[in-house]
Amino acid sequence: MDNRAIGVFDSGVGGLTVLKEIKKVLPNENYIYIGDTASFPYGSKSKQTIIELSKKHIQKLISLDVKMIVIACGTATSQALDEVKKIFDIPILGIINPTIEYLKKENLKRIGVIATTGTIRSKGWQNSLQREINDVTVFSKACPLLAPMAEEGWTENEIANLTIKEYLKDIKDIDALILGCTHYPLFEKLIKNELGDNTEIVNTGKMVANEIKKYIKQNNLQNAIEKNLTEIYLTDTECNFIQVAQKILNLENINIKKIE
Ligand code: DGL
Repeated sequence: MDNRAIGVFDSGVGGLTVLKEIKKVLPNENYIYIGDTASFPYGSKSKQTIIELSKKHIQKLISLDVKMIVIACGTATSQALDEVKKIFDIPILGIINPTIEYLKKENLKRIGVIATTGTIRSKGWQNSLQREINDVTVFSKACPLLAPMAEEGWTENEIANLTIKEYLKDIKDIDALILGCTHYPLFEKLIKNELGDNTEIVNTGKMVANEIKKYIKQNNLQNAIEKNLTEIYLTDTECNFIQVAQKILNLENINIKKIE
């Protein structure tokens, strides 16, 4: 048993789509979330910057005494996970490996990946898919406008619809589309409309959630006190975070603390 919280971080609201899925399968755990709203967006930044930012959040979460850390961000997973795993002596999980394991089991061969510019440039998804799945064909597309639109709460309006259409116009006839940025599940309805029923939309948060549940059980790390607290820290509070977060987590009141 381990009553410490699970630490989660992202550049903004996107990681909440992962937190939401984790909370569904592990409702009795406590969570500490960092949204790095001061440095948003991560997708246009260099690998070195993403590594430095990730190190800072991991240090902060460790100082808040978490038992494990989830990098709920595709950009940071694809560019910083390997580096931070070498540095820190705490379990750290990203969004790529659990998703690849799932796709491998399902035997899907024509796979699309949409993500931030940094993630696509890193080839993190493409390399892992090609290494793990025989005869896979990968179609990658950077969609740099989507995460800022999600921070703005523009995920179901006409502008979002047109943007999705434009980004997906060359990705057709695929078995699955990986939402390689954690902001993108907020556009799931529009993406589904665009691709139709024959394409499975892969929300990485669901895969990560199952992986964490397994890890917690195997290592006997369950929280024994039923408190179920979620603390949210932001690096800047001059943003739309609260409104979008309330919608994602379905909460009336969200208490936000600013990281100094
Ligand atoms: N949610 C993030 C991701 O999964 C980052 C988006 C951004 O900050 O550009 O990639």
